[in-house]
This record gives sequence, C-alpha cells and structure tokens, in this order.
Amino acid sequence: MNIVSANGAPEIARPRIEVNRLIKTFHRVGGQKLTPVDDISLDVGAREMVILLGPSGCGKTTLLRCIAGLERPDSGEIVLDGKIVFSSKKKIFVPPTQRQLSMIFQSFALWPHMSVFENIAYPLESRKAPKNEITPRVRQVMQMVGISDLELQYPGRISGGQQQRVALARALVSNSVAVLFDEPLSNVDARVREHLRIEMKRMQKQLQFSGLYVTHDQAEAMELGDRIAVLDSGRIAALGRPRDIYEQPGSEYVATFLGSANIWPGSVVDAGPTHVRLATAGGDLIAEITPGASPSAPGADLKIMVRPEKIRISKDPRDDGRNALSGRITARTFTGPAVQFFVECAGLTVRVVSMQDNLQDDLAEGDMAHLSIDPGAVKILPANGTPADRTPRA
Ligand SMILES: Nc1ncnc2c1ncn2[C@@H]1O[C@H](COP(=O)(O)OP(=O)(O)OP(=O)(O)O)[C@@H](O)[C@H]1O
Ligand SMILES: [Mg+2]
Repeated sequence: MNIVSANGAPEIARPRIEVNRLIKTFHRVGGQKLTPVDDISLDVGAREMVILLGPSGCGKTTLLRCIAGLERPDSGEIVLDGKIVFSSKKKIFVPPTQRQLSMIFQSFALWPHMSVFENIAYPLESRKAPKNEITPRVRQVMQMVGISDLELQYPGRISGGQQQRVALARALVSNSVAVLFDEPLSNVDARVREHLRIEMKRMQKQLQFSGLYVTHDQAEAMELGDRIAVLDSGRIAALGRPRDIYEQPGSEYVATFLGSANIWPGSVVDAGPTHVRLATAGGDLIAEITPGASPSAPGADLKIMVRPEKIRISKDPRDDGRNALSGRITARTFTGPAVQFFVECAGLTVRVVSMQDNLQDDLAEGDMAHLSIDPGAVKILPANGTPADRTPRA
C-alpha cells in the first residue's frame, strides 16, 4: 500500500502480518492426519482488512490461532510488523503474550462482571502497565470509538453496537500490530448483524487498524474486506479484492461460494484473439477473453460461469448483438427488490435475477422468455481451478 512519507516521497508500508508457506497438521483420535493449514501464504497490509472466508472446518480458526501463537505450526514462517514470531527453519516461536496481537471472538466475549472501563483496561492490567498510564489510555480509546459515556456500565446492559465498540476498544487499547477477529458477529441476529457490519467497516476506515477477519458469511466478507482469501480445505482457493474475485472467481468452488452463479459445462468451438465461441447444451455463446487468461484450444472442455444478474430477460427476442438464449420459465420467485427466474433453455437451466424496476415485461411461470448475455459476462473457468495469485492491495 502506498503512503506518502514526511519528505513527500511515496513509501511502501511494511505489512503488519506476513504468513509464508505455513503448514499445520493435526492427528485425530484414531490416527487420521488432517492439514487444516496447508501451505498458506498471506499478508495483511497497514490499515488493511483481510477476510478469511470458507465453510465450516476449512481451517480459518486454526490459521488465526497459529498467527496468535495459540497453535505451533509444523513449518513455515510468521512475521508481525517485520519481526519473525515463528520460523520452523530458524526454530523461533514467540509466545502469544509477546506477539502484540488482539483477538475479538464470537459475540465479543466481554467480561459480564466487569464494567466497560474495566473490560477495556483488562489487557493493560494483565500486562502490568503502570496505573497512571492505564486510565488516560482507556479514556482515549473510549473516546476514539465513541463510548466515553459508558464507562461505568456493564456489558449485559448495553446494545449490540455498543458491545462491539467496547470489544474494539479493548482490542485497540494496547497498540496491537493487528486485530484478529474470529466470527465476532456469528451469534448476532441477522438484522443487527447487518448494522454492526456497516459500523465495523466505518470504524476500521476511521481508526485505520489492520485486521484479519474470519467469517463464513459471504455478505460480511464482501462488505468488510479490502481483500478476501477464500479457503478450501486448508488452502487458499482465491485471494483478491472482493469485486475481482466475484467477477473473476477462477474456479467453480470460489464462484459458488461467493454469490450465486450459473455454471454450465461447455467446450471451445473456435478461439480468436479477443473472443472465444463456446458450445453449450442451450446453444453457442461468445465469451470475451480476459487479458492474461491462458488460451483455450478448440475442442477443450471447460466450465462456463454467468452471474444471474448479468442476464437480461424479456418476452420478445432482442437483436442487441449479445448472446441469445431462449426457453420456458419453470419458476419465478419474488425476493423483495429483485425477481428470480429459472428458465429451461434446451437442457440448460438458467437462473436469472432481475431488479424489479428493470423488468419491462410481465413474465410468468410457463411463459417463453428470451435471454441475452453480454460476452463480457460469460466467464471461462479452468477445468480444475487454479489458485489465484497475490493481488495488489487496494
Ligand atoms: N486441536 C485439534 N485437534 C484435532 N483436530 C482439530 C483441532 N482443532 C481443529 N481441528 C480440526 O481441524 C479442522 C479445521 O478446524 P477449524 O476450527 O480451523 O475450522 P474453521 O474453518 O474455523 O470452522 P468453523 O467455521 O466451523 O469455525 C476441523 O476439521 C477441526 O475438526
Ligand atoms: Mg472457526
């Protein structure tokens, strides 16, 4: 991330967390070997929020615990703000208390018997910081996160949003290198969660802390993350900015984990310098070739992805020069702001999501529908999916 130094020249801020080729295996009762962290390399820049997103059991918490020093990895290296805290080669293992990290757990894990002030002071008290430094520092972070008036209150008697601010204040009070979050919002009900997410994003940008945030909620990941690492059984399946991963997921696993996607089998008919013609069960489709993508040979089998909201649906065929498919509507569901259709196009099931306001025709179940898709929205996925490379930070 570029920032401007005192003399005006751009300088590269040092990453706060660097994980290099980390491996952690467990042995289950019965002897089965498990590798929930399987050769992971990842960094978190200054003021950056990186999300670890993946299904239950894919290794998110284990990776976080390795970074915090609560697990000892088998091999690899962990560097915090330029200092090696774990290296299998150099035989370095810095204990958790000396790693200068803060963690925020599920439902914030505040101490119910301690006041807001005492909760926030706790990390300083347990480090035996001088008493005359604790009070001003606690008051300072309380002011930073906007809860100065709650000093004497107890966590059970403040709102979810206020609890989040207390947890954040407690994480920031001791000038940590970065904050590690392990699904802090997973026990909060959906409506409050949405509010807390927006609030978390705002606070992170305002207070400029660095964070590594674990979740299995894709909406949370896309909203909060400067970058997202999508994990699949201990490995990084994709790493990049939310929009880049959403639009160019690189594999079927990532495409379906982040948003909904139409994924169809297809094969290459012919490939030109900028476009490729693909055969599908519903007819041929033209796809724009993404710069840098490996060329597709005619005859090659592959997967095709089209996001449902990228497909236009109408009663009459449109001659708009885009890919055209047609079929019968087998289902139509109302989802509030949008309408979702399933259209059977000669053996290809197509899911279409259209914002209410964009629907010019009255389309019902059983009607014939005409679909059009921009060639730029037709994405080719490699047969086996390749892990995305490191992407520059925003
Ligand atoms: N101490 C341990 N001993 C043996 N196996 C473990 C241990 N800790 C975790 N595991 C296993 O490692 C795998 C990864 O667990 P982890 O807690 O990292 O998953 P997760 O991605 O955080 O999942 P969730 O979303 O459910 O929290 C799981 O299969 C889990 O059962
Ligand atoms: Mg977990």
